[in-house]
Amino acid sequence: MTKHIRLTTQDMVTTLTFARPEKKNAITQRMYAAMAQAIRDYGEDDGVRAFVITGAGDYFTSGNDLQDFARGTEDGGPPPVVQFLQAISSCEKPIIAAVNGPAIGVGLTMLLHCDLVYAARNATLSAPFVKLGLVPEAASSLLLPKAVGEAVANDIFLTGRALSADEALSFGLVARVFGEDELASEIREIASTVANSAPNSMRRTKSLIRHRGETIAAQMQREGTLFAEQLASPDFAECVAAMMQKRAPVFQ
Ligand code: COA
Repeated sequence: MTKHIRLTTQDMVTTLTFARPEKKNAITQRMYAAMAQAIRDYGEDDGVRAFVITGAGDYFTSGNDLQDFARGTEDGGPPPVVQFLQAISSCEKPIIAAVNGPAIGVGLTMLLHCDLVYAARNATLSAPFVKLGLVPEAASSLLLPKAVGEAVANDIFLTGRALSADEALSFGLVARVFGEDELASEIREIASTVANSAPNSMRRTKSLIRHRGETIAAQMQREGTLFAEQLASPDFAECVAAMMQKRAPVFQ
């Protein structure tokens, strides 16, 4: 377990917090691996009936750690980000996202795998993959158009712009928006309601609503192939260099 993931369990609810506020909660491979492990472990624990995912400080997450992006995995298994996405998309227990600030990249795409998504009024959602010379992941190229329609999905993916919490609400990406000071207590109440409901009914209702199976896995695989190619491309290197040097990227 890394210190950058905070894990607490109380009243049958396990809360996973991205705890790297000095880097706007950018997610490293270690953090993905720790999240994946915790969701798998607590997913099997009868004492846990729901998960909450949130961020420390004033960010949900600024997405994948840009320095960490291109590093290979140590053991040659599925990359930790894939393990994390598989863990949340196959989890049988309800996952609640408390989006307490900007959610960038995987910060947005992971929400498509959560069951209950709530945002603070200061939250923003963006998926700037194209701005980084990359392509969408987490089966978001399938799930986002399905959730919001192609016109809005194109606006999000192709321009990389950030949606306000109220826009996200109007597009159905979040269920409710709360004041910044209210989010934590509202989430506690919702999590408690969910955790105290009949567990089998909850699990079966979730599986009836999701019922996505193979399509998701296949799309993740297609995205993964293109994502890896883009990650190794000069475009990605130029986008990251430009971002670090605070200049506009120049493409050959
Ligand atoms: N990966 C690695 N480090 C990141 C990061 C990321 N995704 N996002 C932020 N950080 C780091 C910054 O490098 C900086 O580190 P430093 O203090 O050591 O220089 C620190 O977090 C604070 O970020 P900073 O850029 O100074 O804050 P800001 O308020 O001006 O901007 C962001 C915040 C998130 C808008 C900006 O950092 C950003 O655009 N990050 C990249 C987001 C991104 O493209 N994510 C990937 C999506 S696929």
